[in-house]
Amino acid sequence: MFEIHVLEDYEQVSQKAFEVFKEVLNEPHPVLGLATGSSPVGLYARLVAAYDKGELSMKHVKTFNLDEYIGLDRNHPQSYYTFMYDNLFKHVDVPSESIHIPQGKGALEKLTKEYEALLVQNPQDIQVLGLGSNGHIGFNEPGSEWDSVVHVVNLKPETRVDNARFFESIDEVPDFAVTMGIADIMRAKKILLIATGKKKAEAINEMINGELRNEVPCTILQKHPHVVVIVDKAAGSKLKHD
Ligand code: F6R
Repeated sequence: MFEIHVLEDYEQVSQKAFEVFKEVLNEPHPVLGLATGSSPVGLYARLVAAYDKGELSMKHVKTFNLDEYIGLDRNHPQSYYTFMYDNLFKHVDVPSESIHIPQGKGALEKLTKEYEALLVQNPQDIQVLGLGSNGHIGFNEPGSEWDSVVHVVNLKPETRVDNARFFESIDEVPDFAVTMGIADIMRAKKILLIATGKKKAEAINEMINGELRNEVPCTILQKHPHVVVIVDKAAGSKLKHD
């Protein structure tokens, strides 16, 4: 079931996302599924600002990130590990042993199995998602299976092009990533999906009004009991109204 908020701009979207996310922090031991990319940056900035003012603590949480590029060192400027520390973890009181980010280097078969086992033991109270312009969630690209678990994925050319803005050139964007599967995402009690900009408008409309199909992975969210969708006017511009 979708709870849809169409707001003016990125600032309002981030503020609303912060309000929804913050409620989960009131639980005794929240498990937080986190995303990287542009969409949640404003949410994380608000969490850091609230922490600085003494309004919240993240001492009691466990975090699990959606995905990581394959082949980058953890300390590479574009790794999702670096992203999470720069945007959130190094500014708040979450203990380092409570932070889980899939590893994109090493014995991947073993590492993906271990990450999957941890996810099964720690179902997310909330899962933050961005949305690919091709409808991907996490890095579950078009064609992903609904029962997929943590796995290595070959990124689609359009995803590499979309993400090239973070790298010096497209050639530096990794070809592969490791991602939670669709089944891992669907296990979350609540999903908080953030999308802004007109490049996301088609995927947002498909997610809500489109036919359920593997070619548009976000359509599986139609089957989830509680998805809070927060978009700006541009991303919401193709939503059909009654
Ligand atoms: C990131 C992730 C991706 C992004 C998506 C949108 O951890 O899993 O699915 O959420 O590619 O990226 P942005 O927010 O940069 O437009």
